[in-house]
Amino acid sequence: MVQIHRMNKAIKLHDKYFTHYIGSDKIQQATRSLVQQVYNDLGDEEIPIFIGILNGSFMFAADFIREYPANCEISFVKLASYEGANSSGKVNELVGLTEDLTDKTVVILEDIIDTGNTLAKIYDIFETLPIKQLKLATLFFKPDVFKKALHIDYIGLSIPDKFIVGYGLDYDGLGRNLKDIYQIKSKNMKNIVLFGPPGAGKGTQATLLKDHYNLVHISTGDVFRYNIKNKTDLGMLAKSFMDVGDLVPDEVTINMLKEEVQKNLEAVGIIFDGYPRTISQAKALDECLLAKGEQIKAMIALEAPEDELVNRILERGKTSGRSDDQNENKIRNRFNEYHTKTAILKDYYEAQGKYFGVNGLGGIDDITDRLKEVFDKL
Ligand code: IMP
Ligand code: MG
Repeated sequence: MVQIHRMNKAIKLHDKYFTHYIGSDKIQQATRSLVQQVYNDLGDEEIPIFIGILNGSFMFAADFIREYPANCEISFVKLASYEGANSSGKVNELVGLTEDLTDKTVVILEDIIDTGNTLAKIYDIFETLPIKQLKLATLFFKPDVFKKALHIDYIGLSIPDKFIVGYGLDYDGLGRNLKDIYQIKSKNMKNIVLFGPPGAGKGTQATLLKDHYNLVHISTGDVFRYNIKNKTDLGMLAKSFMDVGDLVPDEVTINMLKEEVQKNLEAVGIIFDGYPRTISQAKALDECLLAKGEQIKAMIALEAPEDELVNRILERGKTSGRSDDQNENKIRNRFNEYHTKTAILKDYYEAQGKYFGVNGLGGIDDITDRLKEVFDKL
């Protein structure tokens, strides 16, 4: 399958997802700055030999020397580990160095320096060679993990201690061909769909869960009201259907929800409440989350017998003043609609092993505890 790498799309390499981190413009800018610094130090008289450490640095080395404004040479070496003859462990050697480096100015080109272990070995090896001087330039540097008291002459970009791929760097062999740098997604969101028939206490429980786990609560009703109140493009579009008594097309609802997801990708997780309502909405949500390397972890449903809930709503109607809470026929209609339209979503999530039914009868705290028990296992 051909993979299309779009900026906002997460990339999957083996079992891990990566999100866009550094664009090629910024990489080129960092490379040019490194070139400038090296050239400023060496000048036109010196003819350095640049040595790229394979495999990771091949792309950086190519772009680097293409920018280098004076005469220079280039070569590549690979660092190989061999089991030592005695029990002392690994012995590292350079593979592929055929040039005579005597009295030369050697500039090592590294793609990334992390702990500095590789750097230490490079220094060990080059220090025994009869060269004129040794310098080292690295495109990326992770200051938070670098533990060595070793000198690095030129640093392109300092980055946090997170695994990156692209521009020559790989994750287990893959990702080297990416033009941009992508950062691993280490944290996975705990996204749930909170589900249940009218009167089951979804709103109350969503709020309690949200507070307890620091989640984002996305209620479709709230999203609609927000968009209409703020006259967003999607809000106005939705209103144009509602004003003439038409149902808002799925596509409009889906787009509104997608925007909400986009705004909250850094959250611990999202509770979807009142969404999805149709299979096409559920599929669109899966697709949208998948593109970010995320997913719905579970549909957690509050389950309670209809008669019980009808009574609950009628009780509520006595004090709430909501007219649709006072007429049993109207309430039963809401259940019918729930059963015919929405309950098929149970099958959708059940088929993926993601449906968790929770007893929705009893005290509010008891129900919350049951929901937490499911959530904690996700
Ligand atoms: P160090 O020896 O810990 O400094 O690590 C250097 C080597 O580890 C690099 O040459 C890479 O091959 C690899 N490496 C370290 N961090 C990353 C990363 O974020 N992405 C890809 N490879 C990395
Ligand atoms: Mg390397």
